[in-house]
Amino acid sequence: MTPERKPVTLPRLHEMHRSGDKIAMLTCYDAAFAGLLDVAGVDVMLIGDSLGNVLQGRGSTAPVSLEDMVYHTTCVRRGAKAAWVVADLPFDSYHVSKEAAWKSSAALVKAGAHMVKLEGGGWTPETVRFITERGIPVCAHLGFTPQTVTSLGGFRVQGRDEASAARIKRETQELIDAGAAMLLYEMVPAALAAEITAASPVPVIGIGAGVGCSGQVLVLHDMLDVTQGRKPRFVKNFMEGMPSVRAAIERYVAEVKAGSFPVNEIHGF
Ligand code: KIV
Repeated sequence: MTPERKPVTLPRLHEMHRSGDKIAMLTCYDAAFAGLLDVAGVDVMLIGDSLGNVLQGRGSTAPVSLEDMVYHTTCVRRGAKAAWVVADLPFDSYHVSKEAAWKSSAALVKAGAHMVKLEGGGWTPETVRFITERGIPVCAHLGFTPQTVTSLGGFRVQGRDEASAARIKRETQELIDAGAAMLLYEMVPAALAAEITAASPVPVIGIGAGVGCSGQVLVLHDMLDVTQGRKPRFVKNFMEGMPSVRAAIERYVAEVKAGSFPVNEIHGF
């Protein structure tokens, strides 16, 4: 029998960041996988709006509704016993006003989320402050932000040149000052993410952002090789050579904790 794990809390995640104890995070969309991720030792589960791509077969995350996110958050929370549960605020659920952002965040918390994630930068620090001051912890997603893929000109690494690296650093500081309790960087150069992590008072999770972050996240269906077609360079197939899905997830957790995934030269930019 698997021994019961102590629930992962926000202070524990902050302590892990300070002590260099790596955080293993995966996306999750249902109760069955939540149970499996929990026993495999995953620290943080993200109900990502990537469910639009991986579950609904859409070409982008933009059509995902708040109702979709509430439904999947409810399912995950029924299966998750120990992990910290983060739910994405979907496109158009936090953009119009701070009050709308609060209502959307509250709906996700009522469904079982411990924290909400929004795609940060630009105008969002004020929204982060409003939600945080009212008692919901916020994770800010920077770098490549899938909800605005069209205005970013496609799936491009962000922060490669001096001006865009400086913008990401400035936006990071604004979000930290606004109370963001966790940061997530997607597709930024490993050196930039490592520099931000070293200076950050809050945990920094990376996806395609190198091994220097406080922790890593991948889309579950990508790392289990369920997703068909070409996958981003930062994805590793953890199912390869493994006897079960549980073993593949345990291998992911072990490699993240050991700092052996990702390898900057293979999975990084
Ligand atoms: O929606 C999602 O799965 C995400 C990850 C790419 C971090 O935001």
